[in-house]
Amino acid sequence: MTRLCVILGDGIGQEVVPTAIRVLERLLPDLQIVEAEAGWGCFERHGQSVPEETLQRMRECGAGLFGAVSSPSKQVEGYRSAILTLRQCLELNVNLRPVRSWPQVSSRADVDLLILRENSEGLYIGREHMQSADLAVAERHISRQASEHIAQRAAEVAGLRASRRITLVHKANVLPLTCGLFRDSCRQVLATAGLNNIVDERLVDVAALQLVESPDNFDLLVTTNLFGDILSDLASHWSGGLGMAPSLNWGQGIALAEPVHGSAPDIAGTGKANPLAAILSSALLLRYHWRAAALADQLESAVERLLAEVSITEMGCETTQRIEQELLRRL
Ligand code: NAD
Ligand code: IPM
Ligand code: MN
Repeated sequence: MTRLCVILGDGIGQEVVPTAIRVLERLLPDLQIVEAEAGWGCFERHGQSVPEETLQRMRECGAGLFGAVSSPSKQVEGYRSAILTLRQCLELNVNLRPVRSWPQVSSRADVDLLILRENSEGLYIGREHMQSADLAVAERHISRQASEHIAQRAAEVAGLRASRRITLVHKANVLPLTCGLFRDSCRQVLATAGLNNIVDERLVDVAALQLVESPDNFDLLVTTNLFGDILSDLASHWSGGLGMAPSLNWGQGIALAEPVHGSAPDIAGTGKANPLAAILSSALLLRYHWRAAALADQLESAVERLLAEVSITEMGCETTQRIEQELLRRL
């Protein structure tokens, strides 16, 4: 029996995840859902953004679907972003973010790339301090171990996708120690995997420009945490924006699917949220974690037919509900 820990979270997380579950249940009729709490609302209720019980349920299930959470943009005593806590505590060390063209919602037809973002370190270790009243300092950690780990995942994904190119994205001209270690560790692992001939590299600024000018030149991008965060939002434009951007937080024997978007307070409760990012995130669980590629293909091709046949941009307040209906009809 397949078990899935479901964390709705805040805002539109409460709307898009139930839709994604009903779609997934159509593909996996014996799916067992285990609910758990996390996020800002959870912090207000229990004083913790991720209760220990949630971590326990995630570990027991080995797979999860997370909606979105709200985070204040200034420090709140005792609060830490729920998704960052989940990534860290569950050692979800790689974040997989595919970007591809879809009918009607994409402005180009030829994009099919995947960003592998290091998910555990870099500037995200959360070590910031005021060195004096006028100097704030943030530490950036890059380890050989985490860099080798993401490169191993890159080799694995390159095999599954029959990748034509792996692009390492860094800023080693300015950060030769941290970005240098990342680049060199990745190169070593990929060479050992026999992939030297398809490995390439770009400085992150040029990569950003080229993702806009010629996204079809990229296949698999491998990068550090903050660069991956920024580039994945930028590249999601080609998929049709945040409502179409899925991701998978990927650990060893455990994975948490998560749409890239946040809690979208501007549209929460209106019915306008696009549930496809959450639905396509569950397709990543199927493909990469549960190794059910045929079901992932079935789901993605149903999404493709839906987008080709129905315009989702004029659904207004019926968006979430109608996309679910139209998709279930095509599965
Ligand atoms: P956001 O992703 O919530 O919204 C950005 C814009 O995209 C908004 O206009 C929103 O309406 C739109 N949008 C997002 N998802 C959509 C969808 N599925 N369908 C249609 N439109 C969609 O980002 P934000 O406004 O910068 O952040 C809002 C809150 O979410 C903040 O508290 C932030 O910290 C949090 N956040 C959480 C996550 C996460 O939980 N993983 C990610 C990003 C932001
Ligand atoms: C993402 C989000 C998170 C991140 C935030 C909400 C902490 O932007 O998943 O891309 O920065 O990783
Ligand atoms: Mn982000």
